Amino acid sequence: MTIETGVLQRYSEGAEAVQPELCCPVDYDRELLALLPQEIIDKDYGCGDPSRYVQKGDVVLDLGSGSGKICYMAAQLVGDSGKVIGVDMNDDMLNFMTNGKALPGRWLKALNFVRSPLPPPNHLPNPVWTKVMR
Ligand SMILES: C[S@@+](CC[C@H](N)C(=O)[O-])C[C@H]1O[C@@H](n2cnc3c(N)ncnc32)[C@H](O)[C@@H]1O
Repeated sequence: MTIETGVLQRYSEGAEAVQPELCCPVDYDRELLALLPQEIIDKDYGCGDPSRYVQKGDVVLDLGSGSGKICYMAAQLVGDSGKVIGVDMNDDMLNFMTNGKALPGRWLKALNFVRSPLPPPNHLPNPVWTKVMR
């Protein structure tokens, strides 16, 4: 098995069901989590909270966006003038995170998800980033 197929398989399992071994305790801003479905919060495989660096008007690129939790948090912070682009190579993760787009709220207009291995291709929308998260 290659590293890529191993990573794909592990995170496909993570999109299907919560994988406690992939989770680390992170103290997120609870106000930003309030609108998110519990399933996105539960399938949290992040190991830090980069949303604290996001400001109004930022164009944020989230590399390896997983369940999309940080993207949804950042989208609430960037406002109408900002944008958030989540990039992930795993179709199961992308399907899972884009299901969250059914959420109400005009801040979702700021969100885009792109399927790509890293580094992402040059044709991503608006290639002028003010913040890059990994
Ligand atoms: C730790 S999880 C995501 C955590 C997420 N940023 C968060 O904070 O909730 C890592 C994600 O990166 C993706 N990933 C890992 N290696 C990748 C690569 N080479 N190209 C694209 N995506 C990758 C995986 O599919 C997985 O969804």
